[in-house]
Parts: sequence; C-alpha cells; structure tokens
Amino acid sequence: MAKAKRMYGCTECGATFPKWAGQCGECGAWNTLVETVVEGATPSGRTGWAGDKANIKTLAEVSVEEIPRFSTASSELDRVLGGGLVDGSVVLIGGDPGIGKSTILLQTLCNVAQRLPALYVTGEESQQQVAMRARRLDLPQDKLKVMTETCIESIIATARQEKPKVMVIDSIQTIFTEQLQSAPGGVAQVRESAALLVRFAKQSGTAIFLVGHVTKEGALAGPRVLEHMVDTVLYFEGESDGRLRLLRAVKNRFGAVNELGVFAMTDKGLKEVSNPSAIFLTRAQEAVPGSVVMATWEGSRPMLVEVQALVDTSHLGNPRRVTLGLDQNRLAMLLAVLHRHGGIPTYDQDVFLNVVGGVKVLETASDLALMAAVISSLRNRPLQHDLLVFGEIGLSGEIRPVPSGQERLKEAAKHGFKRAIVPKGNAPKEAPAGLQIVAVTRLEQALDALFE
Ligand code: TYD
Ligand code: MG
Repeated sequence: MAKAKRMYGCTECGATFPKWAGQCGECGAWNTLVETVVEGATPSGRTGWAGDKANIKTLAEVSVEEIPRFSTASSELDRVLGGGLVDGSVVLIGGDPGIGKSTILLQTLCNVAQRLPALYVTGEESQQQVAMRARRLDLPQDKLKVMTETCIESIIATARQEKPKVMVIDSIQTIFTEQLQSAPGGVAQVRESAALLVRFAKQSGTAIFLVGHVTKEGALAGPRVLEHMVDTVLYFEGESDGRLRLLRAVKNRFGAVNELGVFAMTDKGLKEVSNPSAIFLTRAQEAVPGSVVMATWEGSRPMLVEVQALVDTSHLGNPRRVTLGLDQNRLAMLLAVLHRHGGIPTYDQDVFLNVVGGVKVLETASDLALMAAVISSLRNRPLQHDLLVFGEIGLSGEIRPVPSGQERLKEAAKHGFKRAIVPKGNAPKEAPAGLQIVAVTRLEQALDALFE
C-alpha cells in the first residue's frame, strides 16, 4: 500500500489542503477542516479501466438467499434488529451515559458466547470492571473474551486471529487509528476507525456492535456520517433515573424502523418487558381528571399508553404549552382547532401534557387522546376508566383514520377496555368482544361522546 499522506479536508465542500486552517480556502466555511487520510494515487496499480460486463446482472439474475441471522438470546433485542443479528452487519447503539448500553451488550455477549465465539472490546472500563459486572449479574463468564484496547489496528489484528462471530466496541469515541494524529473522539478519528471496522465486518462476516455516545443536544457525538456507514442504528431512550428503557431502531437495512424493544433496569441488569401495555397502564383504580389511555403503534405492535394533561389558569401573557413525549407544535395546533371547531378556548390557560413511562409518541393518532385529556382536565371531570381513544384531527375539525386500527382495538379489548372512540374509517365491521366502538367523523361528535 502506498504511504498515507496527511491532508485536511473540508466537511462542507470536500476540498483538501496540506495544512490546517480555521477557514476553508475554497468555500469560506469556518471550522470545517478535519484531518483525512489520502492514500497514494491508484492504489490498485490499475491504469486504464476496461469495464467489466460480466459484473452486471439484472435483479432477477441475482441469487438471493435468506439473510443469515442468529438470535441474540434476547427476544426484545432480536425484535428491534428485525428478527436477529445479521452476519457481517454493523449495529450502532447510541444513548445517554448510564442508560444501559454497556449492560445490555455485556448481557447479550455473555449469552451468545455460550454458542458462538464472541469478543468484547472495551476502551472505557478495565477487564476487572467488566468481570465484576458480569459476576454481579450472574452471567455465564466462562466463554466470553474481553480485551481492553483503543488502537483500531490492534483490535482488528486480534479479531482476525480470534475470528469472533460477534464483537462489541465500547465505545467508538475511545478508539483511534494510527493513521491520524488527532485525538480520539474527534470527527476524523471516529469516522476513520468506524470505516475500518465496517470493512472488517463485511470481509470477515463478524457482526459488530458499536457503542456511541450522545451529546447534550441528543445527536450522536462525532460525525453524523457514522449513521450512514453502519447498517443499523439503535437508540436507547428513557429517563436514566426511571426504570424503563426503550430501545428504538431509527435505521435498519435488515428490518423495519421504529421498532421498539422495552426493557426494565433491575438490580440484576436489564430485563425484557414482553407485555409493555401492562407496565404503562398501571394506574390508580379511580378515574382522575386529565387522564386518558390511547393505543399507539410502535413498529409492528400496538401499545397502550396513558396520556395526562394538566390545564391551569395562566398568569402569563403567553400561556405555557409544555409537552413531554408529545409534539409541542402539534399541541398548539390542536388547541387552535379546539377553539375554532369545538368552541373551547384555552388562551388563558397553561397546558401541560405528559405520556406516562417516558414513552415518546410521535404519531398523529395521539391527537384525539391529547384533546380528550386536555378537556377532561379543563372541566375537572374524569373520563371513564375503561375508555380508549385514538385518531388524527385535521385542521378543519375532521377526524381522520390512522393505520392498523384493528390491531389497536384488539389490544384494547385484550386489556379489558369497554368503550373506544375512534375515527369512522377505523371502525371494524365486527367489534372485538366486549368493546363498544363509537365511530366519529367530526370533532364535535368526539366531544359529545367523551362524557357519555
Ligand atoms: P451502563 O450500562 O454502564 O451505561 P452506559 O454504558 O450506557 O453508560 O449503565 C448502567 C447504569 O444502570 C448505571 O447507572 C447503574 C445501573 N445499573 C443497575 O441499576 N442495575 C444493574 O444491574 C446494572 C449493571 C446497572
Ligand atoms: Mg458504558
């Protein structure tokens, strides 16, 4: 291989310079030059390109077999990955510090190591720390190999000898490549190290988990390019002082996105929660004002969650609109619809909204539930305990259907709900046993049906 030269490239326009500078001489952007690796010209030694006709095929001619997958011994993690871990895939797991990234990977690897060779590379903890944690969690410790190393060239050389089927890099921000001089954790280091790992995974068929740190703003620290390079991106969500942890797929080349895995952090590590509705619904026996249950759709399954509202007289010129787990702009919009089409003003009220359990509900099916909770709190009247609502509200006050209505209703019936206010388009021909369906098309109808 030709000797690597040190160059600085602009992340905006791609121009390269032999020296670092604060401003790109090409496009004028500030602070965009990062160190890059430039290999000597035509590394393959080829000169003229002849073209290769034999390399082109129609899609029908390409032979496709089932993607080889293996189980991670955790049904929730398998679900988020799209049905198991794919050979040679690279999975990035991001999340706040202390949310449980190292814990879940250690648990997974200890279990997988019983069947397949596995290697846990840590640049953050010592071997003793990892061993102590495994012991405390009563994990099988006889098979998993642990290595403390931060130099990527050394990690890959070791992995070539060990030939693990699964490997964890905890975390990518501590890893550096000898080809660059900049400090680990920087844009260039993270990008180059990840690129080497991706290449290794594809060549060797080793599945790799990368742990990535998250910045204060919620983005993965280091370059966003990391998300483009890997096959799957998983995010750990949840309050780190709470018990529930949600693992969400935001990109997956081998499965559906927005698939959600639910875990609970216990003193024995992360435990799977296979029936999340039951957890999110543990609430007071008595009906209280401002609380309503909705059926949300997460990836490939319905989940029942409780939405709470508190509406209180405001003493501010600009009343507050605060949401946790819901979209704030959506709330402002719905309050306007409520005033205009429902005749209920809230301009002198502070409105606080919360989804119980730290869940984020980003789909529009939450509109009707959000509205019901607000009205219930505003009037200080509880809604029926066994009432379920979902549906999208349009700007002209119409109630629109949402995807997978049937499954949402079935989940509600399974958990003993008696009455459901849903968009007309979602009303089934035959209601699930024990569930009375109230189909609505206009906001006014929904408001009338709430306190029946
Ligand atoms: P960890 O997996 O080290 O987080 P990350 O790698 O994402 O930074 O986080 C573990 C956190 O969870 C830590 O704050 C302690 C807590 N915890 C438990 O409550 N029970 C346990 O069994 C373990 C291992 C950790
Ligand atoms: Mg960690």
